[in-house]
Amino acid sequence: ARTDSGSADRADALAFPAPKSAKCPFDPPPAVDRARAAHPVVRATLWDGTSAWLITEHEHVRQVLGDKRFSAEGTRDGFPYLVAGVRELVRTMKPTFFRQDDPEHARLRRMLTADFMVKRVEAMRPEIQQLTDELLDRMIENGPEADLVADFALPLPSVVICLLLGVPYEDHRFFQERAAALFSLQATAEEVRRSQQELLTYLAGIAERKQREPDGSIISRLVAQGELDFDEIASTGRLLLVAGHETTANMIALSALVLMRNPDQLARLRAEPALVKGAVEELLRYLTIVHNGIPRVAAEDVAVGGVTVRAGEGVLCLVNTANRDERVFPGGDTLDLGRDANRHVAFGFGVHQCLGQPLARAELQIALETLFRRLPGLRPAIPFEDVPFRHDQAIYGLGALPVTW
Ligand code: HEM
Repeated sequence: ARTDSGSADRADALAFPAPKSAKCPFDPPPAVDRARAAHPVVRATLWDGTSAWLITEHEHVRQVLGDKRFSAEGTRDGFPYLVAGVRELVRTMKPTFFRQDDPEHARLRRMLTADFMVKRVEAMRPEIQQLTDELLDRMIENGPEADLVADFALPLPSVVICLLLGVPYEDHRFFQERAAALFSLQATAEEVRRSQQELLTYLAGIAERKQREPDGSIISRLVAQGELDFDEIASTGRLLLVAGHETTANMIALSALVLMRNPDQLARLRAEPALVKGAVEELLRYLTIVHNGIPRVAAEDVAVGGVTVRAGEGVLCLVNTANRDERVFPGGDTLDLGRDANRHVAFGFGVHQCLGQPLARAELQIALETLFRRLPGLRPAIPFEDVPFRHDQAIYGLGALPVTW
């Protein structure tokens, strides 16, 4: 086994992110697949010439994400970034718990765990169902053509997270545009900085309003509790607002597309609606929209998969390749809605594992079941080759999905 930590200019380092195949854009990049066939821990060169280790197997991804010696602090040297200037930028801003280690991470996350528990989310199902039906009513009224992203996949989770946080949905254009800039791999550091700042100012304004006019929302409760200052409330609100809609929206759109491409699987789901829970887990596994790795940096030397990751070196945990690991998911390159996909790591693993996963699951289950029940003839209105995949975003997805029925 290799035990060297390599260097940035190693000839065999893989340029990352690598392009996906045009033929199957749902699969991890072929270059990553080739490299991981040779060794499960892959040396990669990032856009700025710095290097990081790609952790590609299920076992090692769980090892790294479960090990406190790997830090989630984005301000540390060696933390891998896929966009220029962001490391310098985060050093000037208050971090959210997403990019902090315990105990600070746990202190802030604990304030929100009750809001996203399964029990609380289950109680929201009737409301999510109603919102889903209203969006479909409008689509049908204006049909028989629509953009499934703009008219369905994006508004549904956006409205839901707005209701939870106490943010007016009328402002959706403002926050959706800024959220998209935060996820773009093409954005400049200045664009990222401006989007962050505008979102923070906006959410601080909402927090101030809740102080005068309290309601049942999360932001209002955080203000009333008084444990967090206004800056912390604004940055927590920004994290939830951004994470709460972009991710689920892309999962809804990609899932709808991949189901339309697999009519036998779709027929199975239609015939047996109780399959929807397992089907959503399989779609989460197969599509894994966090497609460029979950970043960490080693705080000490740690051995992973026969490689010593040195203190200060970055790693990217490739949950998309881990979710195709043949030893855990035999035949994993095939979508199989009947598979037991519960061990997938699409929501991460360890202490940072997705806080919103019960909500994302409920939204996906309701959205997909209702969409294909109410529009049995749903099909793409453009050739597959013309579907705009968002390769240049941190979260994989579709720019638009023209459909008809
Ligand atoms: C964390 C994926 C939906 C809020 C994460 C992480 C992943 C992930 C992989 C771990 C990041 C890391 O370890 O660094 C997803 C996917 C979603 C989704 C695939 C949809 C299908 C949501 C929703 C919300 C949300 C709907 C909120 C309402 C969060 C938060 C964290 C997080 C707050 C940070 C948790 C922490 O650091 O302790 N998500 N997410 N996510 N997610 Fe999600």
